[in-house]
Amino acid sequence: MNQEALLDWYKRNKRPLPWRLDASPWSILLSEILLQQTQMERGIEYHERLLKRFPTLSSMAKASVDDVLFLWQGAGYYSRARRLHALSIEVVEANEGVLPKTYEELLKLPGIGPYTAAAIASIAFSEPVACVDGNIRRVMARQSNQEEPSANDIQRFADKHLVTDSPGEWNQAMMELGALVCKPRNPLCDQCPVTESCRGRSRAHDLPRPKTSKKTTVEYTCVVRIDEDGAPELQQRPQTGLFAGLWGPEMATGLENTGCEFVGTVRHLLSHREMIVSVWKTVGANGIDPSTVALSSLDRRILRLVGVLDDVP
Ligand code: ADE
Repeated sequence: MNQEALLDWYKRNKRPLPWRLDASPWSILLSEILLQQTQMERGIEYHERLLKRFPTLSSMAKASVDDVLFLWQGAGYYSRARRLHALSIEVVEANEGVLPKTYEELLKLPGIGPYTAAAIASIAFSEPVACVDGNIRRVMARQSNQEEPSANDIQRFADKHLVTDSPGEWNQAMMELGALVCKPRNPLCDQCPVTESCRGRSRAHDLPRPKTSKKTTVEYTCVVRIDEDGAPELQQRPQTGLFAGLWGPEMATGLENTGCEFVGTVRHLLSHREMIVSVWKTVGANGIDPSTVALSSLDRRILRLVGVLDDVP
């Protein structure tokens, strides 16, 4: 693969993402945590929102986890927010709020796995470590015409191609190639700067073979109790499990007749779970204003369906 051609393409085509313009380690770390499981457009929005409220790592450490969850609501995978908050406290206590600079040390922090440690170490601190993510897996599978490359093969490919004197640029060039050109469903091979070495070009659409999804379907019953002022009763969910620490109406697994008024059904998809929620309403007391607490996207949908929340998604 012609690394110079890819780096050159990257310089000319990279998106002006906020953490590329303000490339502080904290801004880069926030972006990498968010982009683990959030689409780019949303990632940018939440990155801006979080950085505005928490301009430094220390400012997050001073806040409560509820404050962080409140800003995180709607972004999904809430354990990321909890771990990020834990990380900020740990770094303040161990190192006066200064992030460690090496892959090995970053890897020890809450919420930081091999991909994220490599991304931060290379992009923020120029350490020559290769990022292995879904983009590089796809680029590698196509370049080498392999349907199901093993984790070892992908790591070897990443290590072999890493441009060690500009590792951050290189890793981001691979990500950018995967996002803009070597795309999962609609690869733009005509525009690819490394098409010459691509052995899988003629069947790029079919590479790599998709991983089979193991989604399970779970049925829930949700009862929204509404007080005389039209405010729903909301509880904070336990600190572990689904939507930990977020607020919402009472929800239980299994379908039973609640004896309340049936309102409708909400189908909600998570990465490994399909949730089918039958929503009911009844009279309650001591409701609270839903806009003052952190809610999951599912709970927003439920409250909107019942007519006690009227914000836009
Ligand atoms: N995905 C995760 N991190 C990224 C980055 N720094 N640039 C582009 N896409 C990314």
